[in-house]
Amino acid sequence: MICLTLSSTTLRDAEEEIKRNREYIDLAELRVDLLAREEIRKAREFPKMVDVPLILTLRRKEDGGRSTFSEKERREILLYLLDGDFSYVDIEGDIKRGDVEQKARARGIRIIRSYHNFSSVPEDIYSKIYSLHQKGDIAKVAVKLNSFQDVLTLFKVEEELKGIEKIVIGMGEFGVPTRILYKKLGSMLTFASESEVAPGQLSARDLKTLYRADMVDDRTSIYGIIGNPVMHTSSPKIHNLGFQAIRFNAIYVPFLVDNIRLFFAFAEYMHLKGFSVTVPFKVDVLSYLGNITREVKQIGSCNTVVRVRGMWKGINTDYYGFIKPIEKELESGKIKSALVIGAGGASYAIVWALRNRGVKVVILNRTLSHAERIAKINICQYDSIDNASNYEGKVDLVVQTTSVGLYPHEDESPVPNFHFTGKEIAYDIIYKPRMTRFLKDASEKGCILHFGSEMLLDQGKLQFEAFSGYYYPSWVDPGL
Ligand code: ATR
Repeated sequence: MICLTLSSTTLRDAEEEIKRNREYIDLAELRVDLLAREEIRKAREFPKMVDVPLILTLRRKEDGGRSTFSEKERREILLYLLDGDFSYVDIEGDIKRGDVEQKARARGIRIIRSYHNFSSVPEDIYSKIYSLHQKGDIAKVAVKLNSFQDVLTLFKVEEELKGIEKIVIGMGEFGVPTRILYKKLGSMLTFASESEVAPGQLSARDLKTLYRADMVDDRTSIYGIIGNPVMHTSSPKIHNLGFQAIRFNAIYVPFLVDNIRLFFAFAEYMHLKGFSVTVPFKVDVLSYLGNITREVKQIGSCNTVVRVRGMWKGINTDYYGFIKPIEKELESGKIKSALVIGAGGASYAIVWALRNRGVKVVILNRTLSHAERIAKINICQYDSIDNASNYEGKVDLVVQTTSVGLYPHEDESPVPNFHFTGKEIAYDIIYKPRMTRFLKDASEKGCILHFGSEMLLDQGKLQFEAFSGYYYPSWVDPGL
């Protein structure tokens, strides 16, 4: 079930919040502690105002809520509100007095016993869940995940505590996979909010329509992307929309990773079928692969890993994603020489791809030794970025591969003084923003432009084929 946590201060607004999200949710949590004082007693009638089951929660400050009531007042309010037709009531695990509990039981309202930890995952998380379960109907733990080790701990909850009715949530960015794959944790629901009020929270709409989190079952194949950072990525759109279009029972999840070895342990534990790899792991993954393609071997980096016959196989689709948008120009012989700006992780595949097509390449970089390394592997020239103007009018293609110009630094270019003549093809691999300063400069001179979103989509399409064995559905536009 997908549960919307209501964040409104009035019941009218809470009702509207539900209406806006109605098609994405199965139930909602009324956070009475967020309501304005004069609204609190009226909340007893709220279940009559809406058509979804409700969880009644009056959260204390120490559990991340806003309630400033004394414990006595809080209990009185809960007792009063329990005359309303709520489906669940949340009672913190350490509450010993049984009056709220008794009333809930008498009214047929199910009891969620909760534990929150905003700083870490306690050592005894499994026994905590078990003892919460013994105190109520449903155990709920919401804990802050600080590492990928914590992610693994939470995903093992189901193995340790099978059959126990529970709600398990990992907070923070590391926790995102636990919110999406909540069914794999044996969690009866996942919480969504209308706007991301805390890191790691997802909208009900994304959970329902982008991830289809509630459709995950035993046969769902799990795919994902690893990176650090990773939450800005558009790859879940490409893959999840593709899977849905061809009715492929699979889900693609972003994983924030701080330890690649642990991620591989997780991938085996969860039987992942494949994953995309982004910064900074494209080289680190190589040590864990049992099989790599010729491109990965030559380029020296891998952006796609698939499970093949009990082994992890590494593929590189970046080079293809880069080439595909300029394929026509390459075929017609328009591109014979290129300037590649930048010598970071991304330029390995790009320089290799261009050299593989017989293009003469000069790499320009701030740090000369980085450019030299790539130039040596690919037998091409390199120079300092400060000498960019020496190449004005001398190349057919200029590729921007640095991180300069990336959102929110849209006004920056790594070569602000480079003058385009207008006959060059300009290609920026940054996709946020779509129109970078580099491309604007080129556009003003009338150059043909290629955008980072084209490369992203084309590398993703080939990756999709490696994952699913099917062509990417031509009618899908992930709207990058
Ligand atoms: P990676 O892609 O391996 O993670 P990165 O640190 O993101 O590497 O850098 C990618 C590219 O952007 C590199 O070519 C880097 O230049 P250096 O090799 O000299 O570090 C380039 N880059 C980053 N910031 C830059 C800046 N302010 N000016 C010019 N180039 C820059």
